[in-house]
Amino acid sequence: MTLAPSEPALAERLALAREVARRAGDIQRERYETDLTIDSKSASIDLVTEVDRACEALIVAAIRDVFPGDAILAEEGGVGAAEGAEFRWIIDPLDGTTNFAHGFPHFCVSIGIERRGVRVLGVVYDPLLDECFEATKGGGAWLGSRRLSVSRETELGRGLFATGFPYDVHESDDDNLAAFANVVKSARGIRRAGSAALDLCYVAAGRFDGYWERKLHAWDVAAGILLVEEAGGRVSDEQGGPADPSGR
Ligand code: IPD
Ligand code: CA
Ligand code: CA
Repeated sequence: MTLAPSEPALAERLALAREVARRAGDIQRERYETDLTIDSKSASIDLVTEVDRACEALIVAAIRDVFPGDAILAEEGGVGAAEGAEFRWIIDPLDGTTNFAHGFPHFCVSIGIERRGVRVLGVVYDPLLDECFEATKGGGAWLGSRRLSVSRETELGRGLFATGFPYDVHESDDDNLAAFANVVKSARGIRRAGSAALDLCYVAAGRFDGYWERKLHAWDVAAGILLVEEAGGRVSDEQGGPADPSGR
């Protein structure tokens, strides 16, 4: 079995999300470990490459072509129809840009779709492992033909956790280092793999027992949050309320 929504509006968007995620992933695979033009954005360590921009241009053009009435929020600035549309695509064209720029083989394309503000679809594609994580609201979380379930581990000391650090870590004291130290001292292990979207998919797949990160943007998590929830996991803010990353 694979994910197959019965409603045409969702099935058609899933088909397009899958297709453009794979086409963008093909670009990433081809350009991996080649000479790249690299710029920085909000901070010197916040990178963007020509591949981020090329992937976003491809994805946004395809959505505008097929669903011109859908809204788009894309990390590098691509837009679609005005806000207020029934469907909104939230796109991180290359999550794990620092990894990509350094030839560290862990990055992905992340595409989430909201329907009137509710997360209904997520596709995350890792081009190097050829892993495509998918979820629809109520339809479960899937990796190809495998339905995903989160870990059942309840002991912190037996868990493997993931986290990340914001791009203002050099300047801001709100830097996640205290929480990182606490978990290092109490968990079985911790990873800072460098792709928030894949971190969430790995929680959905039970590879990680948990993940936290501060100062994320909507495009980092739009697909991954639905993957975790559809795999039976829970996602919240630090107070236990609904997760509501900035950039909405
Ligand atoms: C970043 C990655 C990283 C996370 C950062 C994100 P980008 O996204 O997901 O793992 O720690 O918070 O901004 O810049 O590679 O798309
Ligand atoms: Ca990102
Ligand atoms: Ca990105």
